[in-house]
Amino acid sequence: MHPEGFLEVITGPMFAGKTTELIKRIERQIFAKRKAALFKPAIDNRYSEDEVVAHNGLRYDAFVIPTDEEGVRRIAEITEGEGFEVIGVDEVQFFPISIVGMLNRLADEGIYVIASGLNLDFKGDPFPVTKELLVRADNIIYLTAVCTVCGAPATRTQRLINGKPAPRDSPVILVGGRESYEARCRRHHIIP
Ligand code: ADP
Ligand code: TMP
Ligand code: MG
Repeated sequence: MHPEGFLEVITGPMFAGKTTELIKRIERQIFAKRKAALFKPAIDNRYSEDEVVAHNGLRYDAFVIPTDEEGVRRIAEITEGEGFEVIGVDEVQFFPISIVGMLNRLADEGIYVIASGLNLDFKGDPFPVTKELLVRADNIIYLTAVCTVCGAPATRTQRLINGKPAPRDSPVILVGGRESYEARCRRHHIIP
């Protein structure tokens, strides 16, 4: 299963099932007797400090990594030091841009790398890390959610502040779930 090294990217808006798909793929590799590990950023403490947790409650043990240069080095050290053959990184958009070169190098070294993250922020602008990973990927899994307004496939994420669309000058990073975000189709995605 990708003994030659592989870079796979799971992307789409919030609630599309990115984390669920990542856990499923890691679990399959463990069933295949591959040595596999999951990593997640320390800032994503929405549901658990030491597990990757999906919006539907599915959860899996993970290494929790700070979102700085030291964190990027730590992922490489743990992967190479422990001899992991397969690694998954959730919320990859929160790490510094240097994670792109690092994950690409691990794939070159023969590791099956699965990176999961948002392609677009609440304004519909790309997250640079995900964008750079997507153009280097050996395989892309593009998922959609369901628009909370009309039920069409959702490719965007609406940020809501006190139930109202967040303005363009709202900060890019705001960790949250259903209380602050909704999946939307292009037509129902609003940026005042
Ligand atoms: P992601 O990591 O992409 O945000 P998760 O894997 O954590 O997605 O969660 C996916 C789950 O979110 C779905 O299985 C479903 O139960 C739930 N969900 C909540 N809102 C929506 C929505 N608008 N569209 C689709 N799924 C939704
Ligand atoms: P999810 O893709 O697993 O649902 O998680 C996305 C996380 O990213 C969640 O904590 C909210 C956060 N986020 C931002 O920080 N800025 C954004 O513009 C968007 C859309 C999400
Ligand atoms: Mg997720």
